[in-house]
Amino acid sequence: MNSKMNAASELVLDYQSVRFGSSQLILADCFAWLSRIPENTLHAIVTDPPYGVKEYDHDQIEKRSNGIGGIWRIPPSFDGHTRSPLPRFTALNQRERETLRQFFVEWAKLAVRALRPGAHVFVAGNAFLSQPVLAALVEGGLEFRGEIIRLVRTLRGGDRPKNAEMDFPGVCSMPRGCYEPWGLLRKPMPLRMKVSDCLREWETGALRRALGDRPFSDLIVSERTPRCEREIADHPSLKPQSFLRLITYAALPLGAGVIADTFAGSGSTIAAAEAVGVRGVGVERRADYYSMALKAIPKLTALAVSLPSEKERNEVDSTLITRRDIGEKAKQLPLSRPSSSNRSASSSATLAMFRDSELYKSNC
Ligand SMILES: C[S@@+](CC[C@H](N)C(=O)[O-])C[C@H]1O[C@@H](n2cnc3c(N)ncnc32)[C@H](O)[C@@H]1O
Repeated sequence: MNSKMNAASELVLDYQSVRFGSSQLILADCFAWLSRIPENTLHAIVTDPPYGVKEYDHDQIEKRSNGIGGIWRIPPSFDGHTRSPLPRFTALNQRERETLRQFFVEWAKLAVRALRPGAHVFVAGNAFLSQPVLAALVEGGLEFRGEIIRLVRTLRGGDRPKNAEMDFPGVCSMPRGCYEPWGLLRKPMPLRMKVSDCLREWETGALRRALGDRPFSDLIVSERTPRCEREIADHPSLKPQSFLRLITYAALPLGAGVIADTFAGSGSTIAAAEAVGVRGVGVERRADYYSMALKAIPKLTALAVSLPSEKERNEVDSTLITRRDIGEKAKQLPLSRPSSSNRSASSSATLAMFRDSELYKSNC
């Protein structure tokens, strides 16, 4: 078995960095970093890239904090909820889409070079852009292995047509976002290599089973990033520890090796890796987010996140929109309803599906 740990210096190179337990945070541009670390080094990547490519450029971040938009759309408040600014992905023009393609093709090529054969890549997405981004990642040499659906009510979409809300009260321009897709990809294994051989030679090629010896599931019942985590790390795209811990745990099939987050932001993936006892390396190019991460990582790592009890797992359907909202509202809608036998068959199928999914909750 190839169990050699990469010496810290092999990954940190000459960049400014800070160590947290067995993990590191590096201040660098990830394209440069990926092209400089030794080939076949990383056991996995878990990352949340800048989807509009330019939304984390200095001028765009300044516009966001001044509340004047740029690529960041400031959504209207409604129902007592103030929604966070959202990058205006729908407004990318052809030239910007081509920039996005080149960005992800280039990133994938560098990732393929740096990853071990069979290493998995988890890439945060959104329903609108996952198709072109995944196509570009495949073009860059990664193998598409599916998507992980993070069920979360994002408060995105679902609005009536802009400036014509009163004219079209029964219409919504886009569906209300209830999930976040995460691309699951892999560096191809050598031709004819079996998963078992890849595990023996490279410690990669598969995913770790969830606690309790259950298979890792591609449906994860999640939560919005809790306020206590947002108070620790005020990053516009902060992901919750409950979700990140689950996928950082799954990313290393044997629990050994190193996971990189090449777009580390506030360091949430590195905190998750530390919390589940695996080694992470985060790379962030903005000095302000790097400084934010230095403070946030120890605090996010220390947060408690619980596994659901068996009782909660059995009750999970009542926390979902499926039965509670659709079931209640269906009574008011002029739609044909399924017969009672179909109805009970489909609700027990829903129950079974969500019992197989994961539900981690923050305890804060
Ligand atoms: C979507 S955010 C990730 C936030 C992260 N999920 C968190 O929870 O904090 C993307 C991050 O990638 C950083 N970034 C963008 N381009 C980069 C590059 N070339 N190298 C390293 N970091 C980059 C941005 O500054 C931003 O902080």
